[in-house]
Amino acid sequence: MKLSVIGAGYVGLTTAACLAQVGHDVFCSESDVEKLSKLRNGVMPLFEPHLENVIEAVRKSGQLHFGSTEEAIAWGDAIFICVGTPPLPNGDADLSSIEGVARAIAKRATGYRLVIEKSTVPVQTGAQLSKHLSVHGTNGLKYDVASNPEFLREGTSVEDFLHPDRIVVGADSTRAADLLREIYEPIVKQRFTCPIHSNSQKRKDPVFLATDTNSAELIKHASNSFLAMKISFINMVANLCEAVGADITQVAHGMGLDPRIGPAFLNPGIGFGGFCFPKDVQAFIRIAEKSGCDFSLLKEVDRINQGRIERFVEQVRTELWVLRGKKIAVWGLAFKPNTDDVRFAPALSIIRRLQAEGAHIQAYDPQAMEKACKEISDITYCSDAYKAAHGVDAVLLLTEWEEFRNVDWSRLAALVERPLIIDGRNTLSREEVVANGFHYIGVGGVSATPKVTASFIGT
Ligand SMILES: NC(=O)c1ccc[n+]([C@@H]2O[C@H](COP(=O)([O-])OP(=O)(O)OC[C@H]3O[C@@H](n4cnc5c(N)ncnc54)[C@H](O)[C@@H]3O)[C@@H](O)[C@H]2O)c1
Repeated sequence: MKLSVIGAGYVGLTTAACLAQVGHDVFCSESDVEKLSKLRNGVMPLFEPHLENVIEAVRKSGQLHFGSTEEAIAWGDAIFICVGTPPLPNGDADLSSIEGVARAIAKRATGYRLVIEKSTVPVQTGAQLSKHLSVHGTNGLKYDVASNPEFLREGTSVEDFLHPDRIVVGADSTRAADLLREIYEPIVKQRFTCPIHSNSQKRKDPVFLATDTNSAELIKHASNSFLAMKISFINMVANLCEAVGADITQVAHGMGLDPRIGPAFLNPGIGFGGFCFPKDVQAFIRIAEKSGCDFSLLKEVDRINQGRIERFVEQVRTELWVLRGKKIAVWGLAFKPNTDDVRFAPALSIIRRLQAEGAHIQAYDPQAMEKACKEISDITYCSDAYKAAHGVDAVLLLTEWEEFRNVDWSRLAALVERPLIIDGRNTLSREEVVANGFHYIGVGGVSATPKVTASFIGT
């Protein structure tokens, strides 16, 4: 099928590349001229594992094209809107980019189009979109509007798109639901050449869930808010562990063994960030308020999350006493590993706080330094973890990249001024770190020496 994708960010680029990979003819547009020029010249505007290879292959086979939004509107029978929906100061989702795209479709499209919102939007946005197309539509445009929320995670976006647990489509007409089923057929049946896995690696078929539009929109916000709630919950338990002398690693493990709870999202740390959870929680609170529903539960989730930054900075202060003039290494800037995305990254908030108290920051991240530099320019960016640790009073681990688990601790010990590691993600082997002469501090009562060695036999 001829498909269009509007917005070539983390979601749009993955959507366009993967839909081309499974056999569709895709046109992807981007309004940022620098990004578009990069894409047309085969240069990636963002880092995402496997995505570059997929894009290269589908461009070569002629199944993916990049260009303007006007061209994209003219191209596809179905148009996926994948533009950003950032937070407004009051927490509402800013839908101005969505509105801009809707206006352009209304003005330029002819015949029938299925307009699909893939961006994360508040419930009832589909209805607004539909009204907008009807009010501004010229050229006898006929259309359906559908919701197809995206659940991919940065860092594993290609894998998540091609092998999802579920594909949710919200449509209020049979025609729209049938078209979406047709678009996703190769993924639902897992019939395509996977660029990541060999054919012998059998994957579970995803669930294709068709709902009404409002419900699909709600599924996305409710899912993200629930996951955010799980993170804030475990962070609150981590605080309690610190207060009473328990170890959050053992507590979380014990909780996660219950299949009703599960181990995912029970990792305590410096809080959630990125372009989804913080803004989606805020937007969900606002929708509930406007609908007259009390969702103060989510306000607490947000409050606990924001408190993680101050709590971590306090931990650094407790160890280093005066921060003015101290040299501190920051390992990790991205909001999570395997991405270069620093939007709402807790690491950047922590750096700003430490800088405000006069500390000098030496930072390293395997992928995110270019983007971080646009946000914070007055710190020292280093080319590896060792250079960042040179002469420092403490090393702060703020993003759990695999390479930090594999550093040569004895080499590192010779470089630092003071052998202190504060692990904001509980990701390092505390025994190994301590064996190399470092003082180790983790989150939630995870200290240098575990009080009792946890026995995780059989898990
Ligand atoms: N990033 C994620 O992990 C993720 C996961 C699921 C859902 N989402 C949702 O998907 C949406 C997009 O997120 P993202 O991370 O890809 O954002 P992004 O900022 O990386 O990408 C959006 C892109 O759209 C472009 N754009 C804006 N207006 C345009 C227009 N009129 N024509 C063409 N391009 C236009 C922007 O320049 C930008 O490159 C958001 O609503 C987000 O909440 C994101």
